Amino acid sequence: MIMDGNGRWAQQRGKPRTMGHIEGAKTVRRIVEHARRSGVGFLTLYAFSSDNWNRPQDEVQALMKLFRRHLASETPRLLENDIRLSVIGRRDRLSPELRRAIEASERETAECDGMRLRLAVDYSSRDSLVRAASLMPQGAVLARDEFSRAIAMVNHCPGGVPDVDLMIRTGGEQRLSDFLLWECAYAELVFSRRMWPDFSSADFDAAIDDFRARDRRFGGLSKAI
Ligand code: IPE
Ligand code: IPE
Ligand code: MG
Repeated sequence: MIMDGNGRWAQQRGKPRTMGHIEGAKTVRRIVEHARRSGVGFLTLYAFSSDNWNRPQDEVQALMKLFRRHLASETPRLLENDIRLSVIGRRDRLSPELRRAIEASERETAECDGMRLRLAVDYSSRDSLVRAASLMPQGAVLARDEFSRAIAMVNHCPGGVPDVDLMIRTGGEQRLSDFLLWECAYAELVFSRRMWPDFSSADFDAAIDDFRARDRRFGGLSKAI
């Protein structure tokens, strides 16, 4: 899921953008727990792109603080709900405190297997492709599966990760903004006009219903024929 629209949600209400991020964090909890109850196996949430460093410093700082607080407050809830957390993206530009919070949450939830939750922070899909490619022996031609595993590994998910089935973006924009480009090769795309803080469990269910009604052909022919 590309969690977009926090800033506009706040601006529409005459509030600072950071208020939208605080409200958006509540949506994260709501949607994560709803997805778990709905039987989703893997959920990846785009929280901060590598290009988001280009935002004003006070917004970036507010987001980083929010991530750290959110990890601390949500880890017990993840455990309760049997959800395993992994954070994907670069870590070398994060503060030591945030890195420690990420490592603690990953460690504490490592045995959970009800759902895999991946939070993308300082994430760029193109960067992860470049890093996966640089792990390859020079001149080697790899099977796609092996390359997918290398991408999963650079994203701290060494066991491998399935391709994305459904990609939901809130906030009305219809683009991927460097999110899971390889993994979305055959993803169904759902774009919601709802701003992320307003995105509800019912909106999530509607996206799933939309997904279920689609005819996924993967280049072949419809099963219905
Ligand atoms: C998404 O909301 C959250 C992050 C990118 C961190 P935005 O902050 O992009 O909100 P809009 O798109 O400006 O409304
Ligand atoms: C994508 O949203 C990143 C996240 C939701 C974390 P942006 O708001 O940064 O994307 P653009 O700038 O509209 O493409
Ligand atoms: Mg945005």
